[in-house]
Amino acid sequence: MAWEYSDKTKQLFMDAVQGKPGTHLGEIENADGVGEHGSIVCGDALKFTFRVRRAENPLDDVITEAKYLTFGCTSAIAASEALCALIEGKGLTPIQALRIRNQDIVDYLEGLPQQKIHCSVMGAEALEAAVVDWAAKRGVDLAAAGVKLSGEKADEDGRIVCKCFAITEPYLRRKIRELHLRTVDDVTAALKAGGMCGACRYAPGGIQDILNDIWPDACATCPSGGACPASAAPGAPAAAAPAEPSPFQIAKKIESALETDVRPALRRDGGDLELVDIKGWKVYVSLKGHCATCPGASHTLQLLVERTLKDAVDTRIEVIPV
Ligand code: FES
Repeated sequence: MAWEYSDKTKQLFMDAVQGKPGTHLGEIENADGVGEHGSIVCGDALKFTFRVRRAENPLDDVITEAKYLTFGCTSAIAASEALCALIEGKGLTPIQALRIRNQDIVDYLEGLPQQKIHCSVMGAEALEAAVVDWAAKRGVDLAAAGVKLSGEKADEDGRIVCKCFAITEPYLRRKIRELHLRTVDDVTAALKAGGMCGACRYAPGGIQDILNDIWPDACATCPSGGACPASAAPGAPAAAAPAEPSPFQIAKKIESALETDVRPALRRDGGDLELVDIKGWKVYVSLKGHCATCPGASHTLQLLVERTLKDAVDTRIEVIPV
């Protein structure tokens, strides 16, 4: 499906993949703080790095530069850009930077679709991991400095609830409260838990049980009005899985995404793109104009064209130049 992104989100994404001045795609060598969150296997991964101007007292170190490497969709890249923009040049110490929460990233992007909230959470988590790394390198005791971690770094142990994303029960419980997640879909949107095989969503001890424990009156106030599987009568048939789109529908979505989200960016730089063929999930394209001879053509195909189509149409899409 095509997501309704704000103009700010689309602009940040376009600027980042085109390497416009002032954007932050990349990795700082010998960074003072390195934090990672997510995994490529799970579809989204962020490596966040920052450099500080060192002070005699490490608590007074100030972040001067921030960069990221992100594997993911439009909103994952835009959220990473937002994170860097909120931190870089603001005179923040690493501990002060921890005040930036996922909601700040959402606000900077002027909103995110509910199903993409996990991109902002990923940024906040990678930031916290990077600050933990900086503290270890600089010999700072974060607990003694009054820092209470809330991300994955806070939980070394705990029962794994979602095996696909290796998400533990203590982490789930804390994030459900912190982010006020009320339904299983909320949890999947924010944390990805339950978003792959789905086995952990309604299994005993799974996400719904944890939600019921934290918000005991959730079913009474749930906006689904009893439509969710948690409130289905025992033995009721499961809802049918959505049908696969037809090749015609896929082709229409691909053409629409190219026309709306790809060609305008290429045309601004004197280039263009021709859709040559579609076979299954393989999309054959030909770059035109300046893009055809640009040394960054493969970068454009991977970062702009393929990611846009994966995001707007289906994650199985593979873009092949011809
Ligand atoms: S176990 Fe949670 S999605 Fe598979």
